[in-house]
Amino acid sequence: MNTNQDVYILAIDGPVGSGKGTIGQMIAKHYGWHYLDSGALYRAFSYAADQNGISSVDDQALRELINTLDIMFIPTEDGGAAIQINGEDVTDKVRHEDAGKLASEYAGKPVVREILFDLQKRAARAPGLVADGRDMGSVVFPQADLKIFLTASAKSRAQRRYKQLKLKGFDVNLTRLVEDIELRDQQDATRTHSPLVPAADAIVLDTTSMNIEQVFEKIVSLIDK
Ligand code: DC
Repeated sequence: MNTNQDVYILAIDGPVGSGKGTIGQMIAKHYGWHYLDSGALYRAFSYAADQNGISSVDDQALRELINTLDIMFIPTEDGGAAIQINGEDVTDKVRHEDAGKLASEYAGKPVVREILFDLQKRAARAPGLVADGRDMGSVVFPQADLKIFLTASAKSRAQRRYKQLKLKGFDVNLTRLVEDIELRDQQDATRTHSPLVPAADAIVLDTTSMNIEQVFEKIVSLIDK
């Protein structure tokens, strides 16, 4: 249980396309809470490492890299956030599926998880935080007031993600997307460090046959309880 009564922490974990980003932002807006998109942090850091030619096994260079980076999330009108690294707008590059794959690779390295741990912890500010990711409830915020693990079939997650990326103007191929999602699921769930697994005290919600509003109502009712 969260001992800091001034900050309510909601942890939402789940695989790619489970809807945690959309739902997380809706909940944060509803209660006036902060929102942590930890996946975007992993993406931005991995993108920067790749751009600097630093491999995922070069612990020393990765540690030095974080000290040279100013990663900023700037809220946008649609409820999302633009991403800047050292003043450069990298939103589209970081949101691209290629950056997701890179992030999944770097995120498997303990040094990367350690480097980003404190940054994530610092996001817990009053009056509340919605933390979205893979290990929010299990590792980063084990004291969260409520832990939700969102999931859905790989096919419906690929379809949701397809629509989302199309709307953002990305050129996507559904068959490739299903393959990428299955590969990332497997990589994220089987890694040794902080694998994607529901925390023991998480409430698992399978959203395959639920719409966004139903998921939102369900989580709000759990918080208000
Ligand atoms: O949520 P996302 O697709 O933006 O995340 C990109 C990758 O980052 C994901 O495949 C695994 C990694 N990640 C992680 O390991 N831990 C988190 N808390 C968030 C993301």
